[in-house]
Amino acid sequence: MKLRHLRGLLALFAMMIAGCGDDPGHPMSTMAPRSDLASWCYGMFMEITAWDLLIFVIVIVAFILAVFFFSTRVGEAGPPTSVSSDLKLEIAWTLGPALILLFISIPTVRLIFRTQPRTPAANSLPITVVAHQWWWEFQYDDGSKVMTANELHIPANQPIHLSLVSNDVIHSFWVPRLGGKRDVVPGQVNQIDLIATVPGEYYGQCAEFCGVSHANMRFRIFVDKPDDFAMWEKSQAEPSVTPAEETPASRGARVFANSPCTTCHTISGVSKGYVGPDLTHLASRTTIAAGVLANNPKLLTQWIEHPDEMKPGARMPDFGLGGDELNDLVAYLESLK
Ligand code: CUA
Repeated sequence: MKLRHLRGLLALFAMMIAGCGDDPGHPMSTMAPRSDLASWCYGMFMEITAWDLLIFVIVIVAFILAVFFFSTRVGEAGPPTSVSSDLKLEIAWTLGPALILLFISIPTVRLIFRTQPRTPAANSLPITVVAHQWWWEFQYDDGSKVMTANELHIPANQPIHLSLVSNDVIHSFWVPRLGGKRDVVPGQVNQIDLIATVPGEYYGQCAEFCGVSHANMRFRIFVDKPDDFAMWEKSQAEPSVTPAEETPASRGARVFANSPCTTCHTISGVSKGYVGPDLTHLASRTTIAAGVLANNPKLLTQWIEHPDEMKPGARMPDFGLGGDELNDLVAYLESLK
């Protein structure tokens, strides 16, 4: 093997493991589980990989031994042309691989049973996840009536019961560090039960092609310490803030109230609309446009001006707002803590 071949192989190996490290460089690594569900998936992967490695080594050793001890040298008589008459050998090499496959399927089957929908634990937090083209809606079904978009907060070390429904086409809910992906299918309620173990920010991504902005259908899960979560949920349950009079935000509130935005977006105490994300506490979120853009006045302005340029296929139309009106609207939206 030449040196450049070796370098190529090493580069290939590095590429293969590049997505698999621990934080902070690999926010979507499945190799750094932070929930019971993700740990089971990772455990299954490692168990099967270990068995596969053992089988690989056995096969390679057998192959090398065969090459050295059973090959024909120049001038020697060749081996018999056929061994098909050896019935025992035939049975052995059919049955052997079948048994190996059966054996390494055990961890998979065990994981399937472990992750089947079950009666949620009494202390679990029920959340409905609604997938839309191309964003995620989260409804807290614990009586708080909190609704948010693209950024889900959950408490650490408490069972979470997610009910997944779709508003349009098939999507797939996937947060690699918190668990395996699960499809979100119209007309069906799929479920995920998990307990997140480590507070932090985890990246999610729609994992089923669902149209032009499928790749832009991202989300985040914030695993909070229980006290922080309680505070967050309490503040989210509050109605939206009313800006002080004669400020850009108060003028922006009037722009919003008189705009077509109210048909699609809910702002608690101001408007009711269920086509787009609930904006009651928009300013408390770190991102906009389904995790694609940072939530700051500059990008929010560009997003309202040219939704389709920022996110192809975006369902939000460009209403031609501009100038002071747009600046005031953005000031209002960014005041909605
Ligand atoms: Cu939703 Cu892909």
